[in-house]
Amino acid sequence: MTERRDENAPTILLLGASRGLGAAMAGEFAQRGWHIIGTVRGADRTKLHELAELHAGRIAIEQVDVTKRDQIAALRERLSGRQVEMLFVNAGTANRDKPNATMADISPDEFADIMITNALGVMCAVELLQDLVRPDGLIGAMSSGQGSIANNANGVNDLYRSSKAALNQLMKSYAARHAGDQRSLVLMAPGWIRTDLGGPSAPFGMAEAIPEVVTVLLAQQGTPGLRFVDRAGKTVPW
Ligand SMILES: NC(=O)c1ccc[n+]([C@@H]2O[C@H](COP(=O)([O-])OP(=O)(O)OC[C@H]3O[C@@H](n4cnc5c(N)ncnc54)[C@H](OP(=O)(O)O)[C@@H]3O)[C@@H](O)[C@H]2O)c1
Repeated sequence: MTERRDENAPTILLLGASRGLGAAMAGEFAQRGWHIIGTVRGADRTKLHELAELHAGRIAIEQVDVTKRDQIAALRERLSGRQVEMLFVNAGTANRDKPNATMADISPDEFADIMITNALGVMCAVELLQDLVRPDGLIGAMSSGQGSIANNANGVNDLYRSSKAALNQLMKSYAARHAGDQRSLVLMAPGWIRTDLGGPSAPFGMAEAIPEVVTVLLAQQGTPGLRFVDRAGKTVPW
């Protein structure tokens, strides 16, 4: 145990923090003195549980599946009365086994699975949890460079790309509906990183990429409006 609860520390509500980039973000925010309310899906012990032990008093663990609206609503209820500085929905999925599949190769169930998690589920979480975020706080979601329509020059991973483009579009609509809002809205393109989802061929490890992701999120605080940025803070074309 290396830390204790600090009443003055800011808090991030981080959805999809059991492993991969989400768990690494939880660890990085804890190292930078934040409190984390991190979510996992099941009852199993995860990387986030290890981190919660390492950063004692800083990481609280909640359970939510973003595709289950009743679970998001129940989480909102449990957090009633709390205010967080940041809400970040990292949860996401991909069909890595079929990078070259065209829409003729994708079943309706596969299509629904990826779209429901990456677009519907993520934005449902944003909509149902946004009022926990301070009026000057930040709401973000893990997008992907593959969600950029402008940068789509090679056409692989069509379904995953489409789900992240849909997420971006839905976040644009959210931003338009909340145009007078002082909150920062961020869609993060973290780069291709070695995780279960990214696979072993990805050029970057979490240890080098995640501190940059967190630095960019912290830097985006205090600037109202929506931005689609990479982990260097550079704008990604829609
Ligand atoms: N790795 C990359 O190269 C890369 C690049 C660009 C964008 N991204 C995005 O970054 C995010 C994290 O990816 P990753 O590489 O860390 O993948 P990962 O290792 O597969 O982790 C995915 C995370 O999302 C959670 N999750 C999946 N479906 C969920 C659901 N329905 N409800 C709640 N949580 C759910 C998983 O929880 P469980 O443990 O319960 O499954 C896990 O914590 C994703 O949005 C991904 O699209 C990744």
